[in-house]
Amino acid sequence: MLFRPAMLLGGLLLVVAAVTVAQRRGQEASGRRRAHRVQHGQCSYTFVLPEPEPCPPEPEAFGGSNSLQRDSPAAALNLADWPAQRVRQLEKVLENNTQWLQKLERYIQMNLRSELAQVQQHMVQNQTATMLELGTSLLNQTTAQTRKLTDVEAQVLNQTSRMEIQLLETSLSTNKLEKQLLLQGHELHRLQGRNSALETRVQALETQQQAELASLRGEKERLRRLLGRQSGALAGLERSLRAASGNSSLVQREQRRLLESVQRLVRVVAQGPASVRAAEHVFQDCAEIQRFGANASGIYTIHVANMTEPRKVFCDMEANGGGWTLIQRRENGSVNFQRNWRDYKQGFGDLAGEHWLGNEVVHQLTSRAAYCLRVELQDWEGNEAYAQYEHFQLGSEGQLYRLSLSGYSGSAGRQSSLVLQGTNFSTRDADNDNCLCKCAQMLSGGWWFDACGLSNLNGIYYPARHHTRKLNGIRWHYFQGPSYSLRATRMMLRPVGI
Ligand SMILES: *[C@@H]1O[C@H](CO)[C@@H](O)[C@H](O)[C@H]1NC(C)=O
Ligand SMILES: *[C@@H]1O[C@H](CO)[C@@H](O)[C@H](O)[C@H]1NC(C)=O
Ligand SMILES: *[C@@H]1O[C@H](CO)[C@@H](O)[C@H](O)[C@H]1NC(C)=O
Ligand SMILES: *[C@@H]1O[C@H](CO)[C@@H](O)[C@H](O)[C@H]1NC(C)=O
Ligand SMILES: *[C@@H]1O[C@H](CO)[C@@H](O)[C@H](O)[C@H]1NC(C)=O
Ligand SMILES: *[C@@H]1O[C@H](CO)[C@@H](O)[C@H](O)[C@H]1NC(C)=O
Ligand SMILES: *[C@@H]1O[C@H](CO)[C@@H](O)[C@H](O)[C@H]1NC(C)=O
Ligand SMILES: *[C@@H]1O[C@H](CO)[C@@H](O)[C@H](O)[C@H]1NC(C)=O
Ligand SMILES: *[C@@H]1O[C@H](CO)[C@@H](O)[C@H](O)[C@H]1NC(C)=O
Repeated sequence: MLFRPAMLLGGLLLVVAAVTVAQRRGQEASGRRRAHRVQHGQCSYTFVLPEPEPCPPEPEAFGGSNSLQRDSPAAALNLADWPAQRVRQLEKVLENNTQWLQKLERYIQMNLRSELAQVQQHMVQNQTATMLELGTSLLNQTTAQTRKLTDVEAQVLNQTSRMEIQLLETSLSTNKLEKQLLLQGHELHRLQGRNSALETRVQALETQQQAELASLRGEKERLRRLLGRQSGALAGLERSLRAASGNSSLVQREQRRLLESVQRLVRVVAQGPASVRAAEHVFQDCAEIQRFGANASGIYTIHVANMTEPRKVFCDMEANGGGWTLIQRRENGSVNFQRNWRDYKQGFGDLAGEHWLGNEVVHQLTSRAAYCLRVELQDWEGNEAYAQYEHFQLGSEGQLYRLSLSGYSGSAGRQSSLVLQGTNFSTRDADNDNCLCKCAQMLSGGWWFDACGLSNLNGIYYPARHHTRKLNGIRWHYFQGPSYSLRATRMMLRPVGI
């Protein structure tokens, strides 16, 4: 577009030059043309050129706008008259024309320049406008897109949050379910436990009842047999009585004897069930045996619950009301008390003399009922003393035959020489004392050593005149001090309340 005004200007100049040349030629030849039209593209320029006078009579008439009109065929007639003037005139006209042309050129140039500037401005404006329009539309599109994007983003966020909420709810409900399941599991366990406990109890009751029934039946049978035997004997006696009634003194003596035996038999029949029971009964300890009428001290058989085999024990039926089951006796050093854990557990020695009944029996006995303990001591000067505990219990082997005593009283000191609670049993091969040392090895025997404690009735037996200054002897601190070895000891137990 920019090239067009330049070309236009160039074209115009060409035309003007062409016109000038044509005029010159016309001044020589014809000179009739007056109006000129220049056509260039859409634009057309029309300009009128002055025409010289056909025949000026005077030289002063030369000049002005009509000077060119002289360029006519008629003027050619005057050429011969005023050639010099004519030339000057023509030069002036030419000069004027040239000036005019220059003016025109300037004008056209000015016009063209402003037009060009306008066109350029227009274009710039148009372009700016279009750019602005484009920019705004772009912006519009961008904002629209942004809005859409934010919408989508919001939707996604919304969806995400909703899903998160749902997830949370689901996990919460899952947790709740898990908790409920756990609770139900616990409940089931508890119920199962209770069920099995009930079952075992019912079974135990059943077996107990069956055993009782069986023993009752046996007892009944035995009674019937005994009654039959006794009535038979009675009948025989009556018969012989009747037969012997005729005889005199001898008969009378016989009669008396027979009468006596009959009376004895009747007594026996009267107390039949009791004696039968006494023969068959299973005794738990010496106190039960005493209750059934045995009043002589000696060796008896007891059946301790939870122990498979019956045990023989020495019962003291006399001392302090009797019914005592001995668990220890020292009297002449005939038995070695330097034993291991197993021996002290099962017991050893001679029931009629020195012995240790056994920790397991004592544990089983004292776990079934409340027992008291009596310790009897004798020194070499013939003094006797005792220590009694209202309550005595021995823990299981797993509890290391832990000692539990309470309610001390007695003459063997104002205080107990045994630690009352929680002392474990120690032997030379089982060190359960409270000492860094091994009390059982140092002091010999098996005992409830503490660290190492104030007593040990299972120590070494020292004979007379060797019994003092002996730390590993048979000691009971609050009776004869820490280094006096005693002459005789007994430990025995009995149910509380006899
Ligand atoms: C030149 O032209 C002007 C008009 O444009 C006119 O007034 C003047 O007389 C002319 N001069 C001559 C010498 O022709
Ligand atoms: C300039 O804009 C006008 C309307 O605004 C339009 O008619 C003309 O064609 C545009 N010219 C160019 C060169 O874009
Ligand atoms: C932008 O777009 C909206 C519709 O999407 C239209 O109404 C508005 O005229 C537009 N503005 C421009 C400057 O294009
Ligand atoms: C999610 O969109 C729903 C409508 O579709 C509206 O009711 C709810 O409040 C929105 N939730 C959030 C967190 O924006
Ligand atoms: C009387 O006793 C004697 C001798 O004990 C005996 O031989 C005799 O048969 C008895 N008499 C009668 C009648 O039983
Ligand atoms: C033992 O009991 C019998 C009678 O049952 C009695 O005669 C005897 O004296 C009693 N002995 C003792 C030591 O109590
Ligand atoms: C110890 O006493 C028991 C029972 O009394 C007896 O059998 C044994 O012979 C006695 N031993 C000694 C060494 O005195
Ligand atoms: C004895 O046995 C029963 C079951 O037979 C048991 O429950 C009880 O704990 C046992 N007692 C001891 C002291 O071992
Ligand atoms: C006895 O042994 C038990 C372990 O069976 C232990 O916990 C307890 O502390 C012991 N007692 C003492 C006094 O050492």
